Amino acid sequence: MTDAILKTHAQLVIEGKTHYLPILKGAEGDKAIDISTLMKETGYVVYDVGSKNSATCSSAITFLDGDKGILRYRGYDIEDLAEKCLFIEVAYLLLHNKLPNREELEGFRTLLEEYALLHEDMIHFFDHFPPNASPMAILSVMVNSLHNYYPEMGGDPLENIDKTASRLISKVRTIAAFSYKKSMGHPLVYPRNDLSYCGNFLNMMFDTPVRPYTVQPEVVAAMNKLLILHADHEQNCSTSAVRLVGSAGVNLYASISAGINALWGPLHGGANEAVIQMLQAIYADGNDYKKYIAKAKDKNDPFRLSGFGHRVYRTYDPRGTIIKKACDGILAVLNVSDPLLEIARNLEDIVLNDEYFVSRNLYPNVDFYSGIIYRAIGIPTNMFTVMFALGRLPGWIAQWKEMREDPQTKIMRPRQVYAGEPQRTFIPIGERF
Ligand code: SDX
Repeated sequence: MTDAILKTHAQLVIEGKTHYLPILKGAEGDKAIDISTLMKETGYVVYDVGSKNSATCSSAITFLDGDKGILRYRGYDIEDLAEKCLFIEVAYLLLHNKLPNREELEGFRTLLEEYALLHEDMIHFFDHFPPNASPMAILSVMVNSLHNYYPEMGGDPLENIDKTASRLISKVRTIAAFSYKKSMGHPLVYPRNDLSYCGNFLNMMFDTPVRPYTVQPEVVAAMNKLLILHADHEQNCSTSAVRLVGSAGVNLYASISAGINALWGPLHGGANEAVIQMLQAIYADGNDYKKYIAKAKDKNDPFRLSGFGHRVYRTYDPRGTIIKKACDGILAVLNVSDPLLEIARNLEDIVLNDEYFVSRNLYPNVDFYSGIIYRAIGIPTNMFTVMFALGRLPGWIAQWKEMREDPQTKIMRPRQVYAGEPQRTFIPIGERF
C-alpha cells in the first residue's frame, strides 16, 4: 500500500484482512474516519451508543471546540455576536452564511413583522388546552399545526427560505406569548410593528389593559443576547431530531416540532427549568449544598446537578460565561435581588473545587445561569425551555435547510446489535401455558 494511502486512510484489520478507510479532515482540523463502506466491505457495523464518537453529517453552520471552549456561528466567535448583534442579524447569518447589510436586515425585519399574526382560528386551540398545560406541549402542537393553516408553507420551503424562516420565527414568538397570556387568563396582546423582535415579544407577554408595559432597552438587550447564545449548537439532540425527521422528506414544521419535543427533555433544553427547581430545593433545604452534591455523586441516585456537564465541552461553556457576566447587570437595572443567584454561585464554587466533578470535566453549561435572567425579566419557570426553543429556531431551520440541500443526504436509519431471542418455533394459543 502506498505512503499516500497510509497518510489518508485508517487501517482496520478484521479477521486477518486489512481494510483502508478514508480519513476526512474538517475545516478546523477536526478529523473523522469515513466508514460509509464498512458494512459492505466487512459485514460489520460500528457500535456507538448516544453517537458520542460519530459524526452524522458534514456541516458548515457551527463550530465547537469542547476542549478550548470555542463556539462560532458561520466562523464568527459567539462573544462578538452576543455583544454586537441583534438576534435577527444572527438568524440571518445562520440561514445565509453572511451577516446582513442594512438593506438585507430591513427586508428580513419587514418579513418578521408581516408574519407576526397567528391565524384567528388557531387562537381557539388555546381554549382547549387544560389550564396547566405545558407550554412546550402547546408549542409543539401549534408549530405542527401551522402546516394546516398556512398551506403555502407546505410548498418547497427552500424556494424562499427568508419567507419560510421569518414566518416560523415570527409566529413561534406570538404562539409563545399567547400561551403565557392564556395560562394567566389574561387577554391576548397582539404583535405591534413599531416594536423590535424582542420588544414585541416582551410587550405581548407583559402588557395588560390595566397596566401598560414599558419595553426597557436593557431588557431587550438581555433577551437579544440570550436568544443569540441559544441560536445554534452543532449536532445536539434536538438539532439531530430535526435532521432525522426531516431526512424522511417531511415538511419543515413537523421537523421543527420534533426538535421542540427533543429540547423539552431535562437532559437537554429542559435543564434551564430544572436548574431553578434545583436551586429552589437547595434554598428550601437551608442551603444544604452538601446534600445535593452527595446525591449527584451517588451512583444509586438518579439526581444530577442540572446546568452542569456537557457532551462536548470539557471546560466552561462559553455561553455560560457570557450569561453569568450578564446576570449582575440586568438584575441591577431591574432592581432585582435574587437569592438563587447567590446559591448558584456558591454551588459553582463548590463543584469547581470537587475532585468528582473536576475529574469528569463538569462545568456550568448554557442552562446554569440563564434562568436567573429569565426570572428577573418576569418570565415564568415553565416558559424557560420555550425561550430556549425561540432562540434555537433559526439554527434548526438552517440545519434543516443544509440537510435538504446536501446531495449526500439520505434518510437516517441507524443499525443495531441484536440482543434478542434466537429463532423459535411458533406455538398455537391452545398450547401456550
Ligand atoms: C444542553 O449537546 C448540546 O450541545 C446541548 C446544548 C445545546 O445548546 O443544544 O448545549 C444544550 O442540553 C446543555 C446540557 C443541559 N443538560 C444538563 O444540564 C443536565 C445535567 N447534565 C448531564 O445530565 C450531562 O452532563 C449531559 C446530559 C449534559 C451530558 O451527559 P453525557 O455526555 O452523556 O455524559 P455522561 O452521562 O456519560 O457523564 C459522564 C460522567 C458520569 O459519571 P461516571 O459514570 O463517569 O462515574 O459524568 C457524570 C456521569 O454520572 N455526570 C454528572 C453530571 N453530568 C455528567 N454527574 C453529576 N451531575 C451532572 N450534571
